[in-house]
Amino acid sequence: MDDAHYVEHGFDGDVHVLRIANPPVNTLRTGVRAGLLNGIQRCVKEGARAIVLIGQGRLFSGGAEMTEFNKPRQPPSLPEVFEAIETSKIPIVAAIHGSALGGGLELALVCHARVATPTAMVGLPEVKRGFVPGAGGTQRLPRLIGPEAALKIIVSGEPVRADEAVKLGFIDAIIEGDLERGAIAWAREAAKSGRKFTLARDRSDKIEGADLAAFDGAAAALLKRSRGQESPKGCAAAVRAALTHSFTDGLLFERQQFQRLVEGEQSFALRHIFFGEREVARIPGMPEDTKPMPVKNAVVIGGGTMGGGIAMNFANAHIPVTIVEMTEDALARGLAKCDANWQRTVQGGKLSQAEYEKRRACLKGSTDWNVVREADIVIEAVFEDMGVKKEVFAKLDALARPGVVLASNTSTLDIDAIASATKRPELVCGMHFFSPANVMRLLEIVRGKASSHETIATAMDVGRRINKVNVVVGNCDGFVGNRMTGKRGPQLEKLLLEGALPADIDRVMETYGMAMGPCATGDLAGLDIGAAVRKARGTVAPIADALVAAGRFGQKTSKGWYLYDEKRARHADPEVERIIVDMAEKMQVRRRKIEDQEILERMLLPMVNEGARILEENIAARAIDIDVIFANGFGWPAWRGGPMFFADRMGLKNVRDKLAHYAETTNDPNLKPAALIEKLAAEGGSFSGNGTRKAA
Ligand code: NAI
Repeated sequence: MDDAHYVEHGFDGDVHVLRIANPPVNTLRTGVRAGLLNGIQRCVKEGARAIVLIGQGRLFSGGAEMTEFNKPRQPPSLPEVFEAIETSKIPIVAAIHGSALGGGLELALVCHARVATPTAMVGLPEVKRGFVPGAGGTQRLPRLIGPEAALKIIVSGEPVRADEAVKLGFIDAIIEGDLERGAIAWAREAAKSGRKFTLARDRSDKIEGADLAAFDGAAAALLKRSRGQESPKGCAAAVRAALTHSFTDGLLFERQQFQRLVEGEQSFALRHIFFGEREVARIPGMPEDTKPMPVKNAVVIGGGTMGGGIAMNFANAHIPVTIVEMTEDALARGLAKCDANWQRTVQGGKLSQAEYEKRRACLKGSTDWNVVREADIVIEAVFEDMGVKKEVFAKLDALARPGVVLASNTSTLDIDAIASATKRPELVCGMHFFSPANVMRLLEIVRGKASSHETIATAMDVGRRINKVNVVVGNCDGFVGNRMTGKRGPQLEKLLLEGALPADIDRVMETYGMAMGPCATGDLAGLDIGAAVRKARGTVAPIADALVAAGRFGQKTSKGWYLYDEKRARHADPEVERIIVDMAEKMQVRRRKIEDQEILERMLLPMVNEGARILEENIAARAIDIDVIFANGFGWPAWRGGPMFFADRMGLKNVRDKLAHYAETTNDPNLKPAALIEKLAAEGGSFSGNGTRKAA
């Protein structure tokens, strides 16, 4: 396509304007790069006094075109375009609205000045895709705002608002009103006044006089949370090069980091999740013209652990929400918990008092069910008991306006059975939040057999508005995430009997990158809950059951798989080891040393196998849906890409062989390879290549 198509040229007197026009996010694809290069030459030829560079549509630029990463690069390269901008004799002013992210901000940094609308967001999120800014961001930003401020922005990947960026010093002015007109006037004035632009053009410099030890200390503090992830380390190293290398050498160093990381496994995994989070919004089989129903307010039934958190999501998005509780006492407790949560955030400096008050004003409580009459959507989060749920849904059906969606937050119960208590089963679905509901981004939207497309579209739209990552799943016990993690249980017990200790298993999983190993997670959730579920299902877990019988319920009793001190730090407990060893003796299992790799495989492969069955049953539409669930709701590090990605990288033939091996050696029929794994292994296929499956 003609590059003039991607970059429009215009002018207002002697100030010329280049408008990037590559909707929806103005990525710097080949046509844009060529258009910029040609556009600058044209402005020079036509005698421009200054150039304003601006984005068309809703933002300045979202950065590099990631879909071009895996293809041979077409000229001109970004550095070539940047060279032309930076060495231009005519000042070039970036005018930013919406956002300038990644390569988009790097493009703005290369300009001679930057102006922005007050609410524009600017940042370098490359670290979150597994690499480092690769077009000078790590060298220019520290030169503009100082190494430690730049380090924070680049290692976190979090964008900052333009007014904050003005204070930090990498945006020169805020433009109120029409941005293009304001930017033209600003550029004309600046050129006329002979303003000295802050150019990072002196290529021989490094940042002088910086305190390397202080920088390293700040970097170490920032890197503490990134565990095995490589890109934050790469980012810190690249910014450090601005203190030790000349500008030219710094750029080279940054480029090396970029190349190394962008081709690495972690970046591949992070991009898999990044694109996956966009893909899951497309529901196979849902007609494209399906419209969500308008939702201006919500009612949440039950203000306990989950109901309170769910309601906070709405208030946080400034959507009026009312919690309905059984008694004034329970209601007051629920609202107080929300308040305490917000107050903690205010005290931590992450929420202003004014914003807190705005949110708090959106949250109401009531013990009068008549509020349901006004609701645009109702989400139920009462006790996990089918009798109670059916009673509540019958009542909701009688009170809610016709056409209003009734959703349940149940984590295990049958959505169809719940829907059967109403005369509107087509308007019933699951909205399965994860604890803490105001923090965890995952929302499993459960499609019942009668749920209409509009109902699902409405739940998704609401989920999106309250900042969740929605994944539509089918109706089954545990849905996707809990059903898969539940399958680790038998192998966990077997590993313990055969020779591992809780700390070994958690260490292996945490080294892999999980936020928390399965034993520590069990202690946090409460071992009594798992025991109750097993009792209801008639299954056993000899060791976990023995712990519960000994009064070890987890953190709430200060002992479970571990002993907990008053700071909730966990410690290995010889008592637990004794219970395990006794049980092994009783069951005549000979204990041995188990290698870490075996622990990892026996914890992950049962989940992979169940994931395959979930795909066979069409409970999840695509393997990526499963990976997105794990990256957003189960502490699975996004840089590992999720369980199905893990299996694909291992190779499905290998996965099949290992599953078959463990099924036999551990006498666990559940590990018999799923039919889909057998099929894909035989074909040499993969989960990700298995394509979009038919609609539910
Ligand atoms: P909870 O026991 O903390 O809260 C339940 C609340 O519902 C209580 O405050 C109770 O007073 C209220 N309630 C009960 N019957 C009611 C009625 N008829 N009308 C009005 N209010 C009523 O329970 P939690 O943990 O919040 O769980 C609620 C639901 O969320 C359950 O279905 C559970 O399976 C599900 N869930 C729980 C998760 C968790 O981690 N706790 C995670 C995801 C889902």
